[in-house]
Amino acid sequence: MRLLVIDDDSAERQHVRMLAAGLGFEVTEAENGVQALEILSTESISVMITDLRMPQMDGLELIHKLKAEGTLPPTLVLTAYGSIDLAVATVHELGVFWFLEKPVDAQSLRLLVDRAAAHGRLQSEVHELRRELTLHGALGEMVGQSESIRNIFGMIRQVAPTTAPVLITGESGTGKELVARAVHALSKRSGYPFVAVNCAALPETLIESELFGHEKGSFTGAVERRAGCIEMAECGTLFLDEIAEMPVSMQAKLLRVLEDFRYRRIGGKHELKADVRILSATNRNPKNAIAEGKLREDLFYRLGVFHIELPPLRERVSDLPVLAAALIERLNAKHGTKVVDIDRAALAQLKSRGWEGNIREFRNVLERAVILAGEGVIAEEHLTTPQRPVLKPTAQSDLDIHVGLTIDEAEQALIRATLLHTGNNKTRAASILGISAKTLHVKLKQYSLEAEEAPAQTAQ
Ligand SMILES: Nc1ncnc2c1ncn2[C@@H]1O[C@H](COP(=O)(O)OP(=O)(O)OP(=O)(O)O)[C@@H](O)[C@H]1O
Ligand SMILES: [Mg+2]
Repeated sequence: MRLLVIDDDSAERQHVRMLAAGLGFEVTEAENGVQALEILSTESISVMITDLRMPQMDGLELIHKLKAEGTLPPTLVLTAYGSIDLAVATVHELGVFWFLEKPVDAQSLRLLVDRAAAHGRLQSEVHELRRELTLHGALGEMVGQSESIRNIFGMIRQVAPTTAPVLITGESGTGKELVARAVHALSKRSGYPFVAVNCAALPETLIESELFGHEKGSFTGAVERRAGCIEMAECGTLFLDEIAEMPVSMQAKLLRVLEDFRYRRIGGKHELKADVRILSATNRNPKNAIAEGKLREDLFYRLGVFHIELPPLRERVSDLPVLAAALIERLNAKHGTKVVDIDRAALAQLKSRGWEGNIREFRNVLERAVILAGEGVIAEEHLTTPQRPVLKPTAQSDLDIHVGLTIDEAEQALIRATLLHTGNNKTRAASILGISAKTLHVKLKQYSLEAEEAPAQTAQ
């Protein structure tokens, strides 16, 4: 790691150089801003340490110039001993990483240089993601070339650096979680945790402690103090997935947190301050969820300051070729296969499908095809839909679980058979299966079984 030390006082430079060398850093020195600019144009500098008052070009001018060019490396400003207030003000004003008090000591030097360098690496990752987005129409894992997905990339880029809450809506499997992760990755919070909470998977009794945490002994089973998701996401991003499934009473509590970002652990005496960015998602239409009393309207307005709506895959089939190419590459890496492409007829067939399960379903179909083809080109014959065991309502004992099925398929078959048996009564089915109703709900969604059970539900 190379440091650039800029100071007109040669004794001071010498001092920092010795310390830095002792810590294993390499050092380049400059007497003023002009020299520093020359060095920066040829050498790769991890962290810049600069004095402010210097003849020719001073530290301020240097920093402003580099900022304007967008090439300011992570920077520490040297400040006189005993002027902390001024130093902090300078850091804020200049937007540099931090200050280093004179005379510099080894411990502060190491700590601050390491942190500044880590910060710099994150910044360049963000920069790289942004560049990728503009150049290749891809954002991290997300690909797409349709106008609608490009608009979404644009929105993500605009909203990511802000602290605004973002509500992401769209059918199941359209990529809501990917969008949330992209917003986090492109934000200043990217070096801090991204914590996702699935509000549908948590029973009402647990969700409050999951979000707020609890103190030891605050309820039966609270054997020790536990941090909640809000606390775990400190400085980072909290993603509330399936927000409309959160019990309405809990929504009211959440709203209060969003008002002043203060909360208490369950059983806690002290108020804690939360520094989190809130992203949320639902596959319901928010207006309908409000009308049905599932989502509080005031919470919706809080969460949806910025709203990103993901279109279903069938409305953007022009994304299928690039999606297929990207997914085939990832699936090859996962399965060690050597598939190179998908032929026209197969692609045409895929374009004509309804894709109720959206990209998740598309990925599953491709995964099977990649495995079946193994190498070469995917053709129509590889696009068989998974054979689902046929189950008649009267013959649950015919449940056909045989070698050749994946565990997921066997689980799906068992869930279907149990639902048939209970006349689609999910509470009973869950109890027979030995899982909670919430877990069943999650599994039904995961396997896109919701659509098929709809007719039975009316007969319930
Ligand atoms: N634009 C995209 N490019 C590549 N892969 C994508 C894209 N969008 C989604 N995927 C993939 O599709 C799958 C589903 O995405 P994700 O989990 O984000 O959907 P979701 O909207 O959160 O679904 P659900 O409502 O069921 O939770 C994931 O495997 C994800 O990687
Ligand atoms: Mg999701």
